[in-house]
Amino acid sequence: MVDALGLGLGIMLTLTVVILHFSKGTAWQPAEDIVDDVLEHRAATVPETDFPEPMSRSIGGGGGGVGAVVSGEAEAEGELEEGEETVDEDDPSSIPDDEADVYEVEFVKEGETIEVKENETLLDAGEDEGWDLPYACREGQCISCGGLITDGHAEEYVEHHTNQMLGEEELSDGYTLTCVAYPVADLTLETGESP
Ligand code: FES
Repeated sequence: MVDALGLGLGIMLTLTVVILHFSKGTAWQPAEDIVDDVLEHRAATVPETDFPEPMSRSIGGGGGGVGAVVSGEAEAEGELEEGEETVDEDDPSSIPDDEADVYEVEFVKEGETIEVKENETLLDAGEDEGWDLPYACREGQCISCGGLITDGHAEEYVEHHTNQMLGEEELSDGYTLTCVAYPVADLTLETGESP
């Protein structure tokens, strides 16, 4: 004889399994990815900079910063091809040796007259002779290398590539900065002379 209680429990269990099988569950959804929203919000609220953002602050997780640096360098290099050199046409030192004119420069205190190319400074030429001539910055920004061209207005005899010290009056008196002075004529020079 069939146990009525056991039969009832069996039917209830079967019905429970069938109901669970056809139910829709809890409808749980994974959380939405908000990383891009957060980065865009931060990009909108952090002030712009003049330099490439570090990769940790770039949207998309990096690569952009490095790209910006590389493209910036390429821009700074302009149209230069590999191996190509820039030529500053205002810089007498860029005149090729085989095209440079040569002038006679008398160094009075040293007691010698030497040949100096137009692409060489008076200071360099004197040092090449082994003379211990005065200088400091070698950029036309002090007066340590000062000399006196005894022939007349300095700029009739030398071209100063840079000159941040001598005014028109000193130049007309013949003063020169030998570290940035390239000869354009024969001249007589007294070294160690400043206005
Ligand atoms: S060494 Fe400074 S101007 Fe020549």
